[in-house]
This record gives sequence, C-alpha cells and structure tokens, in this order.
Amino acid sequence: MIIKKLSLYNFKNHSEKKFEFSPQINCFVGNNGVGKTNILDALHYLSVGKSFLGNTDANNIKIEEDFFTIDAEIQNEDSEDTLKISQPKEAKKIIKKNDKSYDRMADHIGYLPSVMISPYDSNLISDSGESRRKFLDSMISQTDSGYLYDLIQYQKTIQQRNALLKYFAKNRVWDKDSLEIYDDPITKSGTKIFEKRREFVAKLNPIVQNFYQIISGGKESVSVIYESHLLEETFENLLSQSLERDRMLTYTSKGIHKDDLLFEMDSVLIKKIGSQGQQKSFLISLKLAQMSLIKELTNKTPILLLDDIFDKLDDIRVAQLIKLVNQENFGQIFITDTHKERTENVVRRINEESVIFEI
Ligand SMILES: Nc1ncnc2c1ncn2[C@@H]1O[C@H](COP(=O)(O)OP(=O)(O)OP(=O)(O)O)[C@@H](O)[C@H]1O
Ligand SMILES: [Mg+2]
Repeated sequence: MIIKKLSLYNFKNHSEKKFEFSPQINCFVGNNGVGKTNILDALHYLSVGKSFLGNTDANNIKIEEDFFTIDAEIQNEDSEDTLKISQPKEAKKIIKKNDKSYDRMADHIGYLPSVMISPYDSNLISDSGESRRKFLDSMISQTDSGYLYDLIQYQKTIQQRNALLKYFAKNRVWDKDSLEIYDDPITKSGTKIFEKRREFVAKLNPIVQNFYQIISGGKESVSVIYESHLLEETFENLLSQSLERDRMLTYTSKGIHKDDLLFEMDSVLIKKIGSQGQQKSFLISLKLAQMSLIKELTNKTPILLLDDIFDKLDDIRVAQLIKLVNQENFGQIFITDTHKERTENVVRRINEESVIFEI
C-alpha cells in the first residue's frame, strides 16, 4: 500500500502542510526541532490510530489550537481510499475511511500496516516487560484482526476480577464462586492469545537471526524467546493454583498479562552483555523481521518509517541496511535526517525513485 498524499492541519508544530509522496523513498530533512519526527508520527497515526511517542491524543494538537486533522490518500492495488483522522480538544478522536467513520478503532488496525525504526527502540531492550508485550501485541494485531478483540476482552475481564479481589479485601469478605465467574472468559481469551503469541514468535525468531547475521556479520547469535506462565501450566490450573496468592495480593498474579520476550545473545540477555552496536543491530534486525513477517502473513507491504537511523549507525551498518532494502523489495519508505547531503548520498545508493522534502 502506498500513501500518495498527506495533509496535516494543526498537528503538533505543523499548522498546515501538504505532501505528495513517491511510492518508493521519501526523505524529510531539516534542523533539529523542525518537526521531521512529527511527520512520521502522523503516518503512524494513519496506521494504528495513535502516536508512537505515547502522547495522549490531545497533546498532539498544535498548542493553542482546538483540533488537528490528518488527511491522506491511499493507493491500494486496484483502488484508492481516503483516510481522515480528526482530534478535537475535548471530544473523541474520529477516524474515517472514505468518509465513513469506524465503529471501533480496532477495526482499522491492519488496514495500513507500518513498521517504525526509531531511536526510542532501545527502550524495548531496557524497559520492563510491558513495552515488549505492547510491541508483540501491535505486531500481531497488524496481521490478525481477531487478536485485538481477544486482547481487549481479556484485559477487561482481568480488570473486573482484580476489582472483585480488591472489593473482597476491603470488605473482609470472600466469595470464591463469584470470583470463578471470570475463570471461563479469562481462560478462553487468554489461551487463544497465548497460542497466537507463541506461534508468532516461533516464526519471528529465525527471521531476526538471519537479519542479524547479515547486518552485523558477527559471530554471535541472537534469539527472541517467548516467556509465559502458560508454557508450563494450563490457564485453568494457573488460576486455581494461585487463588490464595491472588487473594492476598488482590490481583491476578498469573497469566498472559505477565508474558515477556527475552532478547538473548549467546544465551545471555542482550541488555546485560550486548555492546551498543550489537544492541542497535539487534533492534534493526527485529524491526526488519517484523516487516518481513507482516508482509508474509498479510500480503501487504508495510510502510517503513525510519527515524534518524543514519545518525545512530556507522557507515558499514548503513551500507548493509541499504543492501537489505534493495534485496528485500521493501515498499514505501519514509526517512528523516538532519543532513541533506548524507541523505542524498545514501538514497543515491538505493536503486529506487526518491523525493527529498526540506522541512
Ligand atoms: N502540540 C504541539 N504544538 C506545537 N508544537 C509542538 C507540539 N508538540 C511538539 N511540538 C514541537 O515539535 C518540535 C519537535 O518536532 P520533532 O520531534 O518532529 O523534530 P525533529 O525535526 O524530528 O527534530 P530532531 O532532528 O531533533 O529529531 C518541537 O519544537 C516541539 O516543540
Ligand atoms: Mg526527530
């Protein structure tokens, strides 16, 4: 899928901006703070309906303005769509495809898949499991429309169960039967999510390993390992075995909401032993594998958003990356950089059509 045109209105620092994109490579160049990353963030909005920086929607409205809009024309294989996202200051965000708004945001996920490679990726290695779970969830939901509904359902039920555990503790009562009402929905949605996560990571891991070898040329080997309580026990058993513990803790202590991804290098966590360069190569391999797997599973080529990556990589890695981009037949690419000349040099080495926008 190709984004042909983009218009921003009061989105972050951009009052009004219009772009006509190349179906291949698009670069945004300019000094620090001119709003290059913000443009990638707008493209990310079109893909998944929210900011990749984790800002609340209203914070993305230009300061002192009342709303923002992001408009785009999308080229599909044999048709065109328009997408419009509007965010008023004190009302709900609206997303429309061809002037028709979605009932639920989740219905839009997967329409325009995207992969972002940014300096913030290092958080995936250093942060807690939550950010890795979010990453995994966003990958899978771009390839599987049912996944997000199961996840929303699961989270809702866990919240209700936790609320009841807290209510019991506060009122010094205990009613096992009413707590068990949640067992069935938790077990059903949770087990489905577990199966999908396990299957997805099993496919992802060898692709990451392959890209890592190409990019780093290193002798070390990396792996992505799925960690879950469900690997050892069925969900029914987990819930019954941890009942007393949950009662004391007043929350559900076992389940897929505690899953994690382990990023390892030669069987040790990369966080502990990986050099900065090895960590960067790993993260890029991870993202390119994400790209490749989404493409394989959906038959759609995700748009690739590359934020500031030339700044963070040495020349050898940039060269390897370009080789990969040429080989793998990636789709539409959006790149930001502070140096026009460097961008021109890099882009010249990729055999594709490109446009450079000076911001
Ligand atoms: N809601 C907002 N209203 C107005 N300006 C905003 C808003 N949110 C962010 N900005 C401005 O956007 C600018 C940052 O934009 P962005 O991060 O896209 O810059 P950049 O070109 O990527 O810079 P760098 O080269 O440093 O990465 C800052 O000047 C910031 O003040
Ligand atoms: Mg930036």
